[in-house]
Amino acid sequence: MKIRKAVITAAGYGTRFLPITRSQPKEMLPLLDKPLIHYSVEEAIKSGINQIVMVTSASKHAIEDYFKPSPDLVSFLKGKGEAELQKSMADISKMADYCYVLQKEPKGLGDAVLTVKAVVGKEPFALMLPDDIIDSAVPGLKQMLAVYEKYGCSVIAVEKVKPSDTNKYGIIRPKKLSKGVYQILEMVEKPTPSKAPSNLAIVGRYILTPRIFEILEETRPGKNDEIQLTDALNALLKYEKLYAVELKGTRYDAGTPLGWLQANVALALKSKDIGKEFKSYLKKLV
Ligand code: G1P
Repeated sequence: MKIRKAVITAAGYGTRFLPITRSQPKEMLPLLDKPLIHYSVEEAIKSGINQIVMVTSASKHAIEDYFKPSPDLVSFLKGKGEAELQKSMADISKMADYCYVLQKEPKGLGDAVLTVKAVVGKEPFALMLPDDIIDSAVPGLKQMLAVYEKYGCSVIAVEKVKPSDTNKYGIIRPKKLSKGVYQILEMVEKPTPSKAPSNLAIVGRYILTPRIFEILEETRPGKNDEIQLTDALNALLKYEKLYAVELKGTRYDAGTPLGWLQANVALALKSKDIGKEFKSYLKKLV
């Protein structure tokens, strides 16, 4: 079944990026000149998915404002003769169909996914965590869709991490099928290095079958007293196979100051407009 919808979760407090996230949604932090969440929307569209379902919280109206039509700005730019900028600003609201669902309380990623049950319905869907930025020649989700089309089951993106970092991620127990593709035998949410079943960590891209909703309804709070998607995925293993794919490209965890800076520097160096000047600035600086 074709994947038509991408769910983007954007309801969290952004505690790893306080104090800026007291008033600024983490997903709206700039990566060069676009907010982080714009990159997830673009990745979905480049992967052939243009129905975007955002899970937000009551204080995150800036996200909806960003993707709304902006007739005043567009006509102002038209008056100034800024045709290119006018088009790209109009495109932001036109490039996808947007829908917003409120997560009423911050009860974890599993709970955030459950809020879109009625909107997604009985079809498989993509799930994106927008603080994970995937910089790759082939969009991250597109790489995963190829694996989904082959096996017809849920697919999760993974990445090898340092053993000391396993406690920041869901970690899979893998059975290798081919280069970078695994069957998942088990998942553990944020294990200590000694309890980790491998060093393959879940990154924020999933393709999920709709059975996950039924399972989430039965999932009790787990780690940190939150409803963990990883626990529900483990339960899904009783009914369906799950696969993991190592994405080709670079992932940045832009939800922390260090990862956000790394992503900004990497993208700035590649920028047609400022790349050259920024590189010579950096060379002088370090
Ligand atoms: C979530 C998941 C975790 C996954 C991570 C990827 O954790 O629970 O399994 O490894 O996203 O970004 P969070 O970062 O929301 O704590």
